[in-house]
Amino acid sequence: MTKKILVTGGTGYIGSHTLIDLIENQFIPISVDNGYNSDVSVLKKVEQLTGHKIKHYNIDLCDVNLSEQIFIENPDISGIIHFAALKAVGESTEIPLKYYKNNLISLMNILELSDKYNVKAFIFSSSCTVYGEGQLSPIDENASLAWASSPYGSTKQFSEQIIKDYTLTTHFQSVLLRYFNPAGAHPSGLMGESPKNIALNLVPVITETAIGKRQKMTVYGEDYDTRDGTCIRDYIHVCDLANAHTLALQYVLDNQQIEKTDVFNLGIGEGLTVLEMIKAFEKISKTSLNYFVGKRRPGDIQAIYADNKKARDILGWKPKNNVEDIMRSAWIWEQNKSKNL
Ligand SMILES: NC(=O)c1ccc[n+]([C@@H]2O[C@H](COP(=O)([O-])OP(=O)(O)OC[C@H]3O[C@@H](n4cnc5c(N)ncnc54)[C@H](O)[C@@H]3O)[C@@H](O)[C@H]2O)c1
Repeated sequence: MTKKILVTGGTGYIGSHTLIDLIENQFIPISVDNGYNSDVSVLKKVEQLTGHKIKHYNIDLCDVNLSEQIFIENPDISGIIHFAALKAVGESTEIPLKYYKNNLISLMNILELSDKYNVKAFIFSSSCTVYGEGQLSPIDENASLAWASSPYGSTKQFSEQIIKDYTLTTHFQSVLLRYFNPAGAHPSGLMGESPKNIALNLVPVITETAIGKRQKMTVYGEDYDTRDGTCIRDYIHVCDLANAHTLALQYVLDNQQIEKTDVFNLGIGEGLTVLEMIKAFEKISKTSLNYFVGKRRPGDIQAIYADNKKARDILGWKPKNNVEDIMRSAWIWEQNKSKNL
């Protein structure tokens, strides 16, 4: 199979790892990104690791005319994986319109172009934030969606609805992938999370503290009703997550999908507390992390982890990496970044 797949947000964290997985599975990815939160230099690493040259467009997907140029030059795109979005939850509460405009206009442009240019499969990066608070974990795809606590979360809920409604009127099929907590880096140590904006997720905060980029880190609250009082999340290795996108594409392109829009949870299926994550890091890095326990952070959910049975059963997805693999790869990547490798 040598089908062309357009990967929006292709130089971003999950997008760049997905380029590799697609190539390893005989797809030809084309990347598009405006470089807002990533650097195009990551494509050199992808090329080094795969031996394949990547066609890349430096384009803002909110500009429909520029975006259409990609389809005019590549009229045979079979599938789209739409990663491109702004993703900082806190920032979205400060500049909500920027989030709504960027995440929704770019989505609507790319959806319309997908229909116009006969794309067959549309895969969308959604998030477990759509489930909101108060759900009992493990959460499966039938759980009702609750009020999103940030404009970022709302953009994911609106995006899902826009995709469902629009897909019904088109010839293509779509898949909504709800990620839990992506973490870790490529096992080569050559690429990993490298945002232009400040890193906010737990694993890069841990590795940045260990390397000395941050003096210390805060654990937000130890009075939750959990094993050790800290919040529980479901951490999924970025390479396993990337592979789920390839499987979702194959699922649609092989005509196995019955629904016009299907939904899958992507998490490892078990929750770990913040303190368990810190201990896992200390074990593999043989370092002691400088952290202190602070107050609860507004908006943090006590515990959330996935029921991933649907992705395993229907897509045949089998995550291969555990928390130690996540921490080991993230730590190697952090050390390599500091040496400018
Ligand atoms: N990383 C996570 O924790 C997480 C969790 C759940 C869902 N997601 C979703 O997964 C997707 C990818 O996340 P990521 O962690 O790789 O983020 P990322 O910021 O590394 O990648 C997103 C990329 O999209 C690009 N982009 C943004 N707006 C654009 C536009 N208008 N035109 C062109 N490019 C644009 C950015 O420059 C960036 O490179 C996002 O949609 C995000 O909301 C991420």
